[in-house]
Parts: sequence; structure tokens; C-alpha cells
Amino acid sequence: MSKREFRIWRGDTEGGELTDYQVEVNEGEVVLDVIHRLQATQTPDLACRWNCKAGKCGSCSVEINGKPRLACMTRMSTFEEEETVTVTPLRTFPIIRDLVTNVSYNYTKARETPAFAPPPELAPGEYRMQQVDVERSQEFRKCIECFLCQTVCHVIRDHEENKEAFSGPRMFIRAAELDMHPLDDRTDRAEQASHQQGIGYCNITKCCTEVCPEHIKITDNAIIPMKERVVDRRYDPLVWLGRKILRRDQVEQQATAGSAAAGVSGSPGTPGGEAGPVHYAAEPTPGGLSFAQEIPAPQPPVLDADGKLPMTETRFDKPGPASPFGEDVTFPVDPQQLNYRYWQAQA
Ligand code: SF4
Ligand code: SF4
Ligand code: FES
Repeated sequence: MSKREFRIWRGDTEGGELTDYQVEVNEGEVVLDVIHRLQATQTPDLACRWNCKAGKCGSCSVEINGKPRLACMTRMSTFEEEETVTVTPLRTFPIIRDLVTNVSYNYTKARETPAFAPPPELAPGEYRMQQVDVERSQEFRKCIECFLCQTVCHVIRDHEENKEAFSGPRMFIRAAELDMHPLDDRTDRAEQASHQQGIGYCNITKCCTEVCPEHIKITDNAIIPMKERVVDRRYDPLVWLGRKILRRDQVEQQATAGSAAAGVSGSPGTPGGEAGPVHYAAEPTPGGLSFAQEIPAPQPPVLDADGKLPMTETRFDKPGPASPFGEDVTFPVDPQQLNYRYWQAQA
């Protein structure tokens, strides 16, 4: 055990300052352990957000010595013995208190991203994908929504005014994931990324990739392919010719129709140049499932009155698993019971 120097930003919406602490550190500890020790021994009102302490919930994002990192995944052994460890809140988002920021910008942008739009003729549970397509989007689904990539992106880090027009790298990987999804019916993901999400603001500095704790290759595998799709459509020779002779709204109409016919936006292509992508449906066979049956081109998904997809998956009529608290517990649980003694009493 040794004493180490810590400098932590304390304050709220009114302002704040860096405060120095000396705190004990044991071998094998991470920065979050030290913050917990500070809360337990010196500063019980220090606010910090965390949940899993396993690098999986994305809550404990802070900036450590200026670099956005997960506090629960940053080992104290990565710093020199005499080095002061400075912990500050995520700079891109408004402060709530101490190390806790208001990250609702990210949820607003997530809501603006059109949801997965499966073909309406396939019921939940009938979706089938080729393994190669599963693997392609698997990388993006590792995202734990820590928003480290969002906080490091210079487009919004120092430019509050860009937040309205720019959704950020986390949302670009979501757009790319859906655009590459063989069962996603929307053919306008590239337009969305360009016009609504502001992918053009990104100049591929790769800072987002550098800080991602899940090692998602955000720029190489998501942003650059999406940018290429945007450019492909913009410089499509047919669109270029159309631009010469038609009005803008007519050109955009043609571009959308042309790309749909060419199977752009992640769809597997259409034989004979007919409009609409081809999807593969599973048909039970004596030997198992068939993935090779072609089905008619799907219609656009049915949206509800708010223009959103009905949440059929979540309304699935299935009982949930048994509660780990037992059937006699009502929620919210009394805070008095939320401790080790509670579990002992139940045992
Ligand atoms: S690569 Fe683009 S999205 Fe990522 S940090 Fe740089 S500018 Fe932002
Ligand atoms: S892409 Fe990486 S850095 Fe960005 S929110 Fe997801 S896990 Fe965090
Ligand atoms: S506490 Fe969950 S990622 Fe750090």
C-alpha cells in the first residue's frame, strides 16, 4: 500500500475547481477503487457515476490526466509512483456535479436515428441472417455507450454550436450497423448520415477510435464506409447527369429510386434490376432451416402515428424470468435492505 496524489474536479453548474487529495492505493487497484476509497474516507459527497466495475456498463467515463477513459478499467499501475492522477468530468457534456455529467445529448441523437426497419412480412422470430452478415455488424454491437468517443470528438468538444447538426461517432456506428444489416429495409441511411447526422463534419482524425474501450474501429469500419456510400450516391453518374438537366428535388427522387434498384445501402442486390432488395426467409425443411428461399421485395415498414416502428419485439407475449429477489419483494426495494445483510437474511 502507498500514498498517491490525486487531483479531482469538484463543483457543479455554478463552477468548481481541482482539489488535491492524498489517498492510499493498493496493488492491482483501478482509479474507480481509489475514488470509492476517497468517498469512504475523506469526501463522502464526491459524486461519480458507476455501475458494473467491469467495463461493461459505460457509466464510469471520466477524463484521467486529460484522456477520456473508463475509471474502472484504468489500472493505477499505468501511472508513475510519483505522478499526480487528475480526474475530471467529460468535457463535452454539461456538468451536473463533480464527476457526473449530463449525457442526454447522446440519447437525443440516438432517438433521432431511425430504428431498425425489418421487412413487414417477417414476424419477430422469423428473421434469418447469413453468418457473414452477423459478423460484419457484431463489432458495432460491442458498443457499451460510454460516450468516450463522443466526448473526444473535436467537432463538438470545443464547439457547442455543432451539437445540433452533428450526432457523433457513436451514432455513426449505429447508422453503419443498420445500413449494413441485410434485413434493414431503409435505403436512406446514407442520406440520413449526411443530412441529419452531419457525417460530413468528421475529418477522420481517428481520436474516437483511439479512446474506444471496446476497440471498435469506428473510423475505418463505420465512418469511412458510410462516407463512401454518401459520396457514391452524390457522384453517381446518373445523378450527375440528372443534376445537369433536372431540378434538385427531381434529382434526389431519382437518386433514391436508382440506389434502391442497385441494392445500395447494404441490401444484397436485386436480380434483373427490379426495384427493392432481396431478403432470405427461413423455411423449415426436414433437414433443418433453408436460408435460400427468395421472397418478394418488401414494402416499407408500417409506422405508428409518431412515425416510429411499433415495438413488437418488446410486446412479445412471454412471461419474464423469475425475479432474483423472490416473488415476495415489491419495488423499489427499501434502501435498508440493499446490503449484504439482506442477502444473509434471505439465505
Ligand atoms: S474521426 Fe471523426 S467522429 Fe471520430 S473523433 Fe475524429 S472527427 Fe470525430
Ligand atoms: S463506440 Fe466505443 S467509445 Fe463510443 S460509446 Fe461505444 S464503446 Fe464507447
Ligand atoms: S463501472 Fe461500468 S464501465 Fe466502469
